[in-house]
Amino acid sequence: MEIFIDSANIKEIGKWLEYGIADGVTTNPSIMLKDGVYDIEKGAKEIARLIKPRPLSVEVTSNNLDEMSTQARQFASWADNIVIKIPQINTDGVPCYGIINKLEASGIKVNATVALSFGQVILAAKSKATYISIFAGRVTDEGGDASLIIRNSVEWLSRWKYTSKIIIGSIRSVGDVLTAALAGAHIITIPPQFIDKMADHRNTRATVEQFLGDAQKALEMMRQMKKAGSRAK
Ligand code: E4P
Repeated sequence: MEIFIDSANIKEIGKWLEYGIADGVTTNPSIMLKDGVYDIEKGAKEIARLIKPRPLSVEVTSNNLDEMSTQARQFASWADNIVIKIPQINTDGVPCYGIINKLEASGIKVNATVALSFGQVILAAKSKATYISIFAGRVTDEGGDASLIIRNSVEWLSRWKYTSKIIIGSIRSVGDVLTAALAGAHIITIPPQFIDKMADHRNTRATVEQFLGDAQKALEMMRQMKKAGSRAK
């Protein structure tokens, strides 16, 4: 299973990259805005350079299908490792699978984003999207069963030998990460604060503290034994 960093914060991305945890990065216009990245081109180029050859997902910012297509080609030209996020449908409910299919046919990798149902996953896979992002948190917000959608999607892709990879996004807690992992997600994209939480445990801290304390005590014992030995000579 791969872990992507769901962030545009270059410091956080660099940190998890250095730790060997980050296999890629996902962004969207809301994440860019929250992380103070107002110039998408500049920000995307900087992240893409830092993480290459790992993939960076950058989302189109238009609701118009022709504009999405033009933007996708423009964004993809910024770096070889940029993957274009195209939503399943636009705000009018118009399916975007035709754009996904054309982009993939022309060699541009697509992350078919904002999937909230198994049905959408099937369509995105048929349109040959490299990645399909299921927004688990938003599924659960509505009372849906994110685990079931993840499990069904992964099993269905494997049964019919589709190569699309399922990314689980919209992570709201460490519990969401573990649920997605157990449901068979290929990739989970995690906001950095939850990776910090995943690493931490108060009993791990306490145990490490105990070991360090005992190591100090052992050193002190050695010092005292040496002293007593040299006095006896
Ligand atoms: C995933 O690729 C998205 O960027 C992200 O996880 C969306 O999450 P949200 O529901 O918090 O907006």
